[in-house]
Amino acid sequence: MGRGNREQVWMSHGDRVTELPPGFRIVAVSEGAPFAVIADEGRRLYGVQFHPEVVHTPHGAALLRNFTHNVAGCSGTWTMAGFRDMEIARIREQVGTGKVICGLSGGVDSSVAAVLIHEAIGDQLTCIFVDHGMMRAGEAEEVIETFRGRFNIRLVHRDASELFLRELDGVTDPEIKRKTIGRLFVEVFEEEATKLGGAQFLAQGTLYPDVIESVSFTGGPSVTIKSHHNVGGLPERMNMQLVEPLRELFKDEVRDLGRELDIPEVIVGRHPFPGPGLAIRIPGNITREKLDLLRKVDSVYLEEIRAAGLYDAIWQAFAVLLPVRTVGVMGDGRTYDQACALRAVTSTDGMTADVYPFDMGFLNRVAGRIVNEVRGINRVTYDITSKPPGTIEWE
Ligand code: XMP
Repeated sequence: MGRGNREQVWMSHGDRVTELPPGFRIVAVSEGAPFAVIADEGRRLYGVQFHPEVVHTPHGAALLRNFTHNVAGCSGTWTMAGFRDMEIARIREQVGTGKVICGLSGGVDSSVAAVLIHEAIGDQLTCIFVDHGMMRAGEAEEVIETFRGRFNIRLVHRDASELFLRELDGVTDPEIKRKTIGRLFVEVFEEEATKLGGAQFLAQGTLYPDVIESVSFTGGPSVTIKSHHNVGGLPERMNMQLVEPLRELFKDEVRDLGRELDIPEVIVGRHPFPGPGLAIRIPGNITREKLDLLRKVDSVYLEEIRAAGLYDAIWQAFAVLLPVRTVGVMGDGRTYDQACALRAVTSTDGMTADVYPFDMGFLNRVAGRIVNEVRGINRVTYDITSKPPGTIEWE
């Protein structure tokens, strides 16, 4: 397809095509795949057995562009502004005069979905922010200020931190933490939605990767490494129709749409944050004191990352409160306090990740500030595990 003789591509050799369909000829082979690229020029049909869409296929995007522009005859007039107008029209058509509720977490996806839907139907939308008390420092306030203050969106803020902490008391297993938080989240959300009454639609910030991941090609079960909680199961439980305006977009496109909608950069460019929040960054039992301690460490770390201009070069950075006490020396005295770990990774989709290579000067500065400014922490470590074999979060 107009490229050189040899190409590096990303291909799974688990599946293999063994027979050429009638009319096709072989264009490229690999060691494991006799039909890596096939073509039927007469009918202008082409097939590839590798993944042109991933970064591990360096010329994949060029190949796709060649196909769409030179073979399929597309001209590439799609713009984000056009998409926004089209989606607004589609939402109006779907919802009519109905009422929509939307779970807002402060993350990029739900924020962009909420603002877009609000542009389409105004006060027919109400957002519900279930505050589980496991957010980062200042983020709950920021969500409220942005959506009520700046966008004038109807927002119910339910501070459920007491309930979450009570139910999580004594829970140390990461999966039980996730399940407990997921269950409570759904219960509280449902309670607030019932109070509002009369909504026929539930809005979700589902992205294209979520759509793909929910389809199993083999139909077989895949191993659950971590169960992720979103508003799982809510639409069925509440008998509501879904409004999912982002389901054809990838994360970077959602960010572009957010900018198109004038959503502040602190939200649009925000690192991913897990649904269960800081609960899965505190191995062991969770208490309010531990959450407060972790918030302090985390905010010093992020402040330094932003000050160094590194925030956008990193996929995700955060601190973990370790369930370990260590001996230290401060001034003339001995300390016996907790240790923390810092993590920062680069990634394109969170499926694999590399450790961010900070220079030692930066790490020294952060560690110095944490130990000096956060009472209760006397040791700082930097996590140098890539994914795989590690996961991004510690739990
Ligand atoms: P892991 O730790 O599995 O994380 O390498 C990959 C990405 O997913 C996020 N993550 C979660 N997100 N609920 C979520 O909504 C969860 O339970 C959860 N666990 C991990 C993680 O922050 C990273 O971006």
